[in-house]
Formats: sequence, C-alpha cells, structure tokens
Amino acid sequence: MYIYKVGVVGAGTMGAQIAQVVSFAGLPVVLADRDESLARRGLDTVRAIYQARVAKGKMTPEQLEEKMLLVTASPNLDGLHDVDLVIEAVSEEFPLKQRVFRELDRICPRSAILASNTSALSISAIASATTRPAKVIGLHFFNPAYAMPLVEVIPGLGTDPQTVDDVVGFSESLRKQPVIVKECAGFLVNRLLSPYLNEAVWCLQDDDISIKEIDQDMVSFGMPVGPFALLDSVGLDIALDVARILHRSYGPRMAPAPLLEAFVKAGRIGIKTGKGFYDYGAVEKDSLDLERLRMQVWQLNGRQPAKWSRLRPLLAMVNEAVIALQEGVASARDIDLSMAAGTGFPSEKGGPLHLADQIGIDHVLQELDELQERVGIRFWPAPMLRRLVDAGFTGQAAGRGFFSYAPTMAPMR
Ligand SMILES: NC(=O)c1ccc[n+]([C@@H]2O[C@H](COP(=O)([O-])OP(=O)(O)OC[C@H]3O[C@@H](n4cnc5c(N)ncnc54)[C@H](O)[C@@H]3O)[C@@H](O)[C@H]2O)c1
Repeated sequence: MYIYKVGVVGAGTMGAQIAQVVSFAGLPVVLADRDESLARRGLDTVRAIYQARVAKGKMTPEQLEEKMLLVTASPNLDGLHDVDLVIEAVSEEFPLKQRVFRELDRICPRSAILASNTSALSISAIASATTRPAKVIGLHFFNPAYAMPLVEVIPGLGTDPQTVDDVVGFSESLRKQPVIVKECAGFLVNRLLSPYLNEAVWCLQDDDISIKEIDQDMVSFGMPVGPFALLDSVGLDIALDVARILHRSYGPRMAPAPLLEAFVKAGRIGIKTGKGFYDYGAVEKDSLDLERLRMQVWQLNGRQPAKWSRLRPLLAMVNEAVIALQEGVASARDIDLSMAAGTGFPSEKGGPLHLADQIGIDHVLQELDELQERVGIRFWPAPMLRRLVDAGFTGQAAGRGFFSYAPTMAPMR
C-alpha cells in the first residue's frame, strides 16, 4: 500500500518533530491537536526545526516555505478523514490513547493504518479500542525525531503482516532505519537502556566515585553522553516511570535504584527543573544530601564502598540484550543496530552483543556470576550465555559467538 498522505495526532514535542520528518520526505501531513492554538503551536515547532536547518545553510528560505506548504494544522481529528496513515503522538495515558484510537477508527478511511508512537503502552491493548486491529501498529520514533535514525516497528497480536511491510516501507521512505520488534514492555531500546542507566545509579550509591567521574568514564568508553547527563536530559521522573513499568513486567532485575527514587522525591528531576544529578542553576534549595545518603547506605550495608567498574552498567545492558534475544524480540544484528542507532552506543564496539563477543562470552558469564553473588540477583546470567560457552561459542577470539567471525558461518539468530 502506498502512503500518499499522513496524519499526526498530538502536536507536542514528538508530534511536531514527526510531522517535520514526514514533510521533509515530501509527503503532505495534517497535524491535529485538541484545539486551534495547540495545533498552530505544533506548526510553529515544525517551522522552527526547518529554520534551524536554514540557519546552518542546509536549506534555503524558499525550500523551507515549500516544505511548510506540505504541513497543515487541524483543531480536531476530523482533519484526518482522508489520510492513508495516522501516527498518534498524544500524551502517554492509556485511557486517552484508547479514546483517540476509537475516534480515529470512526473518522479515518477503512484502509488507513493507525500507528502509535507510544514508548511503553501495549499496542495490542490500544488496537483493541478499534474495529481494525490488523491495521494498528507501533511506530516508535526517538527524540529528536529529525536527528535520530532509528524507528521501532511493533506489531501487536492482531497486526496483519501487510501492515508491518507497509510501515517498514514508509519508514524507509522517511530515510529512517526501521527495526521490527516483538511486542514487550519497553520494546527494545528502552528495555536495554533502562537497566544500564538504573545500574549507573546503583553504582553511584555503592561505589566510591562521583557522578562526573562515572559520566567521564562512560564517555571515554565511547557513549555520546554519560548516564547521569542523559538522565538529566530525559527527566528523572520519566526514567523512573519507565523503570517502574519494566519492573512490573520483568520483575526484580529491573527494580528502580532507591537513589533514583530519592532524587525524584526531592524534586530533582533534571534539566527541566534546573537540578537533577547536576546543577543547572536552580534557585530553590532542596534537602537531598547525596554524600550523607551514600554514607548511610555504606554504613547500613556494613561494608566499604566498592570499586567502580564500567563493566557493571554495561553488563546490565548486555545481559538484558541476551534475554531479549532468547525471547525472539529481535535478531542479534537488529539488537546491536538498534542500540547504536537509538542510543549512540559506540559504533566501533558494534552494540552490546558485539561487545560481549569482544570481551569474551566466557568472561561475561564469569563477571555476571560474580556480580550476582556480590551485588544481587538482578545479575542472574541469561541462560543462553551458559549454552554458548558450553558449546565453545565464546566470542570473537573463538571465531564464533553471537556473531560469526569465520567467513563460512551464518550469524546466530
Ligand atoms: N518526548 C519524548 O522524548 C518521547 C520519545 C518517544 C516517544 N514518546 C511518546 O510520544 C507520545 C507523545 O509524547 P510527547 O513528549 O510529544 O508529549 P507532549 O505532551 O509534548 O505532547 C502531547 C500532545 O498531545 C496533545 N493531545 C492530548 N490529548 C489530545 C487529544 N484528545 N487529541 C489531540 N491531541 C491531544 C496535547 O495537547 C499535546 O500537544 C507519548 O506517547 C510518548 O510516550 C515521547
């Protein structure tokens, strides 16, 4: 199915960015919100994104105006009566999404695909609000959508394979890298990123190291920003919400770090409030004293602060990547590709599964066993690791691991 015209519902942060991406690819797009002023505000955001390109000399003012002709604002969903695909980007509340999908189902042509940009809600549950679950799918963009190459395509239980093909083709026409992800909490990228970020917070609690030193060490590993700078920019409240959703779904290994909860409770939720793990010039003082808190934890545990190792947060991500691989959430190649394109995982390391191959899967397993003993049950190694080691698939040095390093062997799926 060719997509000639697109609708975007919700003209906030993501909706406006997505409308810009769609118009940039040359397709007409209707940007709808609850009223005229909200929809117009979205249009202004689209213009601002284009203006930044003009300022950088990446397009001319005339080209900007041509692109803007493709974007129209609608004060309600009625403006979406003739689109081929809708991308829903309203606030992350399930009853709201259900209401919006019910309305879209009534208004949009029977042939139209209804996609959701939700970060965490169930696509299958959203689809159940419509009479066309075969045409409902997840299409998850990353912030900022105009810069991030990855989109996760998430079929629900009732999604037709044709809908998946259509949305993959559409994503490619936007010059994005689509990755098909089996429906699960956090989908792929957030499911793997959250334990890494959460573990960095656990390390801050347990280890004798500062926020800045951890960030610097992860940047020297190759991450584009350190975990605390990233948490501050995402918002600690949002990160905690995600961690709680994952905890509910996957159990103890995803339990949010108590220090993350303490920061959110103290209102230190990141750049948007002027204070998170770093200080951005907030005027108001708060009572959270990180050093005192850490002392209390160390005394309570009756032990000396531990020595920091970057392997600890990285292995939290690696182990989750292996569990996701076992569950068939995505292939080994797509898992690594997603973490590189969706989080900036250093390309020379290839992704968490390539990293495991480089470190040696036997070594990864040994480290996880030790962490499980010393730190906690959340480091219980994914069963596939033991299976690989027992079979001699220990990684790059052995010529085979998650990937094959011998020219004749097919990659592991
Ligand atoms: N912000 C991010 O970094 C990010 C990244 C990926 C995915 N997401 C997901 O994208 C979605 C939107 O997030 P956001 O950050 O852009 O939110 P936002 O709050 O910036 O925007 C939401 C928009 O939805 C509009 N809206 C609310 N009810 C509506 C209705 N009944 N009809 C039409 N419009 C309505 C609001 O007026 C607002 O403009 C969420 O599902 C979120 O989880 C967000």
